[in-house]
Amino acid sequence: MAREATAVRKKPSRGRASNRIRIFDTTLRDGEQSPGCSMDHFQKVQMALQLEKLGVDIIEAGFPIASNDEFESVRDVAKAITKTSVAGLSRSAREDIDRCWEAVRHAKKPRIHTFIATSDIHLKHKLKMTRAELLKEIAASVRHARKLCKDVEWSAEDATRSDWDFLAETVKIAIEEGATTINLPDTVGYIIPSEFKRFWEHIFEKVPSYDDVVFSAHCHDDLGLAVANSIVAIESGVRQVECTINGIGERAGNASLEEFVMAIATRRDELNYRSGVKTREIYPTSRLLTSMTGVPVQPNKAVVGKNAFAHEAGIHQHGVISKAITYEIMTPKSVGRPSNTLVLGKHSGRAGLRKRYEQLGFKMSREDITAIYPRFIDLADKKKEVYDEDLIALLQQNRAEGGENYYNLEFLQVTSSTGTQPASTATVKIRQGEAEFSEVSQGNGPVDAAINAICRVVGIECRLADFSVNAVTRGRDALAEVNMMVEFDGDLQIAGHATSPDTVEAGAKAFVNAVNKFKLTEDMRKPAGKGRKAKQPAERPRGI
Ligand code: KIV
Ligand code: ZN
Repeated sequence: MAREATAVRKKPSRGRASNRIRIFDTTLRDGEQSPGCSMDHFQKVQMALQLEKLGVDIIEAGFPIASNDEFESVRDVAKAITKTSVAGLSRSAREDIDRCWEAVRHAKKPRIHTFIATSDIHLKHKLKMTRAELLKEIAASVRHARKLCKDVEWSAEDATRSDWDFLAETVKIAIEEGATTINLPDTVGYIIPSEFKRFWEHIFEKVPSYDDVVFSAHCHDDLGLAVANSIVAIESGVRQVECTINGIGERAGNASLEEFVMAIATRRDELNYRSGVKTREIYPTSRLLTSMTGVPVQPNKAVVGKNAFAHEAGIHQHGVISKAITYEIMTPKSVGRPSNTLVLGKHSGRAGLRKRYEQLGFKMSREDITAIYPRFIDLADKKKEVYDEDLIALLQQNRAEGGENYYNLEFLQVTSSTGTQPASTATVKIRQGEAEFSEVSQGNGPVDAAINAICRVVGIECRLADFSVNAVTRGRDALAEVNMMVEFDGDLQIAGHATSPDTVEAGAKAFVNAVNKFKLTEDMRKPAGKGRKAKQPAERPRGI
């Protein structure tokens, strides 16, 4: 049944008069669905706090019905975020919506984001529903969500491949039932810009105007058009854009936040829109995501790629040195990128280190400097050149570790040879408080041997589910960044992260990092029946 207030809300602007674009970040939901991009509980909360600092308007924290872990992550993000709206995704079923509300209701500004597909392809092959049944389902789901939460986003999955007239009908119903945001995704990244313009014109012509309903675009990048299509959408009257950091997301990814935001910031002459994003937080946010997932950004990626501001050709270098504007349409500084120059060496003191961090935009506490300085000196001893990226990596590592650790890797020695089985032997010394323990073990390679030796010391059963190594900086002595997913107790996956100029040491430290996080969660994970841990739902819902 349509809500009575609807008639009062009819007005001819749809908020389109305003040039403020809401940024809906779905890095923690659509982004996290992409292969290799999974994040653990701690990382999601840390990432959400950074997204809030970045100034996005809505953080989609996850899909609460997917698993207990996912539910808890969304709930913890909702509790941690103080200013930004926090959304959870749900399908149209009542239990999905209820579970979503349970997780997001802790937020200062909660949002339920419920969706169902509207294209005939999905109706026939996936939902096995008629159009009439679908209309009823939309009405019931939005009505139910609206009873729980005053901020409800409704999405028509596969909107662009739907019959546009029928799509308009579905939108009208969702609005009548109280949806406050209408999102029309290009789920499979199929539409092209000129067609997307016609799409929105069609929808806006068929759907009566509502002053307080925001229309939203959610574009996938299968044809590399996600950002271009998002720009067409705002030019057509859309006032919310859904995107992800580094453009991660299903298949080819989602519209990249940094590209969309910098397009409207750089081309204000043509695009008279503004977002609330603090552009100087873009690069630190991108780096944080890379360091958490271990999924590298392609070097030529716009805005955040390693080469995005590198000028190789002599003629370009000459131009940039005399005046940056010759070949640079935006400055590295405007997106929070450090200049790629050598900054500090092993003779630098704490004051110099702090100053450089401040120049890079980081506010450093005395404790931060005290913790980082010995690592910086250690690094400066090992590396010929210390780059700003190295300093950022050190800081992120320090913050990720979050103070005093349960276990610390004090010593590591590994010998390896080819043609023998096992190939490597590792000796480790681990400090736990005042006590130190040593173990020796073998493995199929140096990292495997080191991990086996650490396992012997800590006496924990676990399995390495994922492992990746990245070079953070340039050159043969580049800092190696290791990310791994470690599975404890057969079902709990925890990420470990560490950087070091020595890849094996980075691997061993990343493992210790995961073990330390596990020790932190151990108390909270009581056996079923005794406490919080409920049975996991059988599988992640499909169809998104
Ligand atoms: O791509 C898509 O259609 C989605 C929806 C669930 C919003 O991610
Ligand atoms: Zn999507």
